[in-house]
Parts: sequence; structure tokens; C-alpha cells
Amino acid sequence: MERKNVLIPQADLDRQREFEEKIRAMFASREAHPVACVDTFGCQQNVADGQKLMGMLADCGFTFTQDPKEADLVILNTCAIREHAEDRVFGNLGALTHTKKENPEQVIALCGCMAQEPRVSERIRKSYPHVDLVFGPQALWKFPELLWQVYETHKRVFSVQDEHGTIAEGIPVVREKGVKAWVSIMYGCNNFCSYCIVPYVRGRERSRDPQCVLEEVRQLVEAGYKDITLLGQNVNSYGNDLDLDYHFPDLLADIDKIPGEYLIRFMSSHPKDATKRLFDVMAASPHVAKQLHLPFQSGNDRVLKEMNRRYTRQQYLDLVNYAKSVMPGLVLTSDVIIGFPGETEAEAMDTVSLVEEVGFDALFTFIYSPRPGTKAAEMPDPATRAEKQTWFDKLLEVQNHMSAKLHAAYVGKTVRVLVDGESDDPEFPLTSRTEGNRLVRLKGDKALIGQFIDVTVTGSNTWALYGEAV
Ligand code: SAH
Ligand code: SF4
Ligand code: F3S
Repeated sequence: MERKNVLIPQADLDRQREFEEKIRAMFASREAHPVACVDTFGCQQNVADGQKLMGMLADCGFTFTQDPKEADLVILNTCAIREHAEDRVFGNLGALTHTKKENPEQVIALCGCMAQEPRVSERIRKSYPHVDLVFGPQALWKFPELLWQVYETHKRVFSVQDEHGTIAEGIPVVREKGVKAWVSIMYGCNNFCSYCIVPYVRGRERSRDPQCVLEEVRQLVEAGYKDITLLGQNVNSYGNDLDLDYHFPDLLADIDKIPGEYLIRFMSSHPKDATKRLFDVMAASPHVAKQLHLPFQSGNDRVLKEMNRRYTRQQYLDLVNYAKSVMPGLVLTSDVIIGFPGETEAEAMDTVSLVEEVGFDALFTFIYSPRPGTKAAEMPDPATRAEKQTWFDKLLEVQNHMSAKLHAAYVGKTVRVLVDGESDDPEFPLTSRTEGNRLVRLKGDKALIGQFIDVTVTGSNTWALYGEAV
């Protein structure tokens, strides 16, 4: 496929740095020290976007707070994946009328996936007059310019037009302190799973240049990050839009050559594009964690077809079995939707039986939530909420049992973990992760944070392992 010209020209990016300077100078002239509160909802892509927002704000001279009452600028970086996510944001927006009453100079911004939905931006325009700035994920790169417009004109600014997706390299980033880092390798989604809003709000799929990704990972490794996750809605279609014969397994293999002590993970992977070659490359690459998040959504072929997932239950099982055969000990996780429109109890139980058959380490389970504008939202949905809840509870029961069983099998064994932080459990004050990303709560000294160490597993439950350094 021919690569569309989606790169933002360097001159346009340089202009954004000039707007950052203007904002910095404006606050300096008032001898003010601006403070921002960035509240991010949703997936890791959105977390990565939030870190870019903070990077641009740091360039503008802002420091950060978690408390909207203290902030000169409040940004809600939102998620549209389920109705509940949106309700929470509208709740938060309502509460911000009070902080703004206290501090009329406060600027309130709404960005992220919800902002890109016309239904939402219209509602903000009409019913939330205290919101000053609204922009979608596709306008993230020009945030400094939009913010400057707000300060300069004192008018509300909306930048929510569909730009079909662009790539901006070199946006500054404020990363979390610690050992984990996120790297977006692509943006957008082309899959149009019938229940999903993402393709409508994040635009078409576009891959970053492999050299840019490799350079970013190299720098992160040099800076001491040890657990790096590559992000895309479907990393398995990485490169399909590039004018190169270069695909996700090629990228993984090239990243693996970067010297250093670190692990590479990735998410998400769409089963329809996962290949044996991907699993072979994973198996052969020492830096690539033997962990796979492979969402299957449903275990029933009719439902999968209605979801527009483009694989069957058997194809999914074949993939997973192959992956396990080349990576013994592979840790598998997945996403599941219960209660898709028209799903029957028998069909939901096909999902439960797939879960029993595969043996996932953990599942992210969701009850279907209609998203206006998607195909599934128009489908008849006769099952009641109570029925769906019963099926969902059954699924959870089976999964919790499985997680507990898989975790118990670790007790007495020695595993290598990366110690990644502190916990509030006085008996096990450290948290760590196995290569498979299982949580291990640890006895030990804070000085171990940031190190790979061997631990003996002494206990387990549904959610975690417990252990101590060897
Ligand atoms: N691109 C990723 C998923 C991103 S959304 C992938 O395809 O793997 C994360 C998860 O949210 C999805 O895997 C799905 O299980 C769930 N989800 C998406 N839309 C939903 C909806 N309308 N209702 C309930 N769950 C949904
Ligand atoms: Fe949504 Fe499907 Fe794209 Fe994932 S692959 S973001 S579920 S449309
Ligand atoms: Fe939510 Fe947008 Fe991610 S809808 S799940 S924040 S891509």
C-alpha cells in the first residue's frame, strides 16, 4: 500500500515550540508559576498521549498537581470506549464548575477520544460553557497553539475536525519515573470491529517510521528504562501502510538487537493478523517478554462474525496453541465482551468454554456497552442487563479459578523479576513483575527497585504471587 503523506512537516512542529515560548513568556511577565492538572482516562495509548501533553506543558513552564483545585489549567484526557467512561468524565466536568467559580482564571480543557465525537463536542458547546478548549487526539501535536489561542483571545476554542490521522515526531514527553515506558509505534485503527468507537475517534491506521521507533527505544534503554511496551491498537498491522516491506516481526527483531538489560512487550495484537512468524521471532528474541495479550472477544463463531473480527474460534485456538508450542511458559491474557447484541446464553457459554480451554493468566472482561455511531449500536439487543450480568459472573468465576490455579503452580519455584516499585503492604513492601508481567509482591529492600533479581515464590492468590529475594 502506498504511504500517504501523513507526517507533520518539521516547520509546523517548530512553530508549536514557538507557541510554547509565548506561553512561557506570558506567565514570566506576570511573575506567575503556572500549575496544570492532567487527568488521563482509558488505555495506554491515552496514557502515552497524556505524557506528551505534560511534555508540551513543561516546555510552557507548567509544573504539575493532581488536585484540580490548585490548578491554573485542568485537562481531562478522555476515553470513549464504554458509556461508563464517558459518564465519569461528564461527572468530573460538572464538578469543575466549582473550581472555576473559586478561580475564574482557571482554564479547562477536554481532549482525548471523547472530544473527537461530534455528539460530545456539541454537548460541551451547548451545556458546559466553562470548558475553554476541546481538541481530539488528531490535534494533539498542535496543543501549544490551541492553548495560546485560549490565552490570547479569551474565547472558547474547538479543534475537533477529522483530519484522518497524522504523525508528529519529536513531541516532548514527561515520562513516569521508574522502569516502565510506553512507545506508540502506530496510531489509529482500520478494523471497525462493529462494537468499537476507536476507529471513529483515532482515525486511520498509520505507522511510525521504523528508524524513529528504534531510536526512541535505544534512548529509553540508555536512560535506564527496563520494561518497555510498544503500543498500537493492532501492532500486527504495523508497517502495512509504509512504503517498505517491513512488518511488526521485523521491528521486534531489530529492537531485540539493541544492547542492554531490558524487556520489550507489546499490545494489542489482533488475532486476524497474528502470524506464526511473529511467535517465532518472539521465541528467538531474548529481550522480548514471553507474554502475549491476544484479545479474542468471543468464543462463538456467529458472534465473532457479527463483531467483524474476521477469525473463528478454531483459528484463535490454533494460533494460541502454536504460540505455546514455541514458547513454553508463555503468559497469555485477553479481552472479552459479554452481552454483544443478540448474543444468547449458549453463545456466551462458548466464550466461557474457550476461557476454560485456553487457560489465560488474566482476562479483561467487559459487558457490552452500545457506542452511538457504531454498527452494533443499531443491532437488536434483546437480552436483559440482568441476564448478561449472570453470564458475566459465570465467566469471572471460571477465570478467577483459573488465575488462582495458574498462580498456585508457581509456589516453591524461583523466578526472575524486575522490581518496579513500592506497595502499601508492610509485610511485602515491594512490587515486581515476572517476564510474563505477573505481579509478585516482595519482601526486600527499597534499594532493589529497578533491578532484575531472582525470587522464590512463597505464596499466591487470584491476583498476585508473593515472594522473597533468593
Ligand atoms: N485495539 C485493541 C482494543 C482496544 S479497546 C484490540 O483490538 O485488542 C479495549 C477493549 O475494550 C477491547 O478489546 C474490547 O474488549 C473492549 N471494548 C471495546 N468496545 C467495547 C464496547 N462497546 N463495549 C464493551 N467493551 C468494549
Ligand atoms: Fe476497536 Fe477492533 Fe480496532 Fe481494537 S481492533 S481498536 S477492538 S476496532
Ligand atoms: Fe479509550 Fe481511546 Fe483508548 S476510546 S480505550 S482512550 S483509544
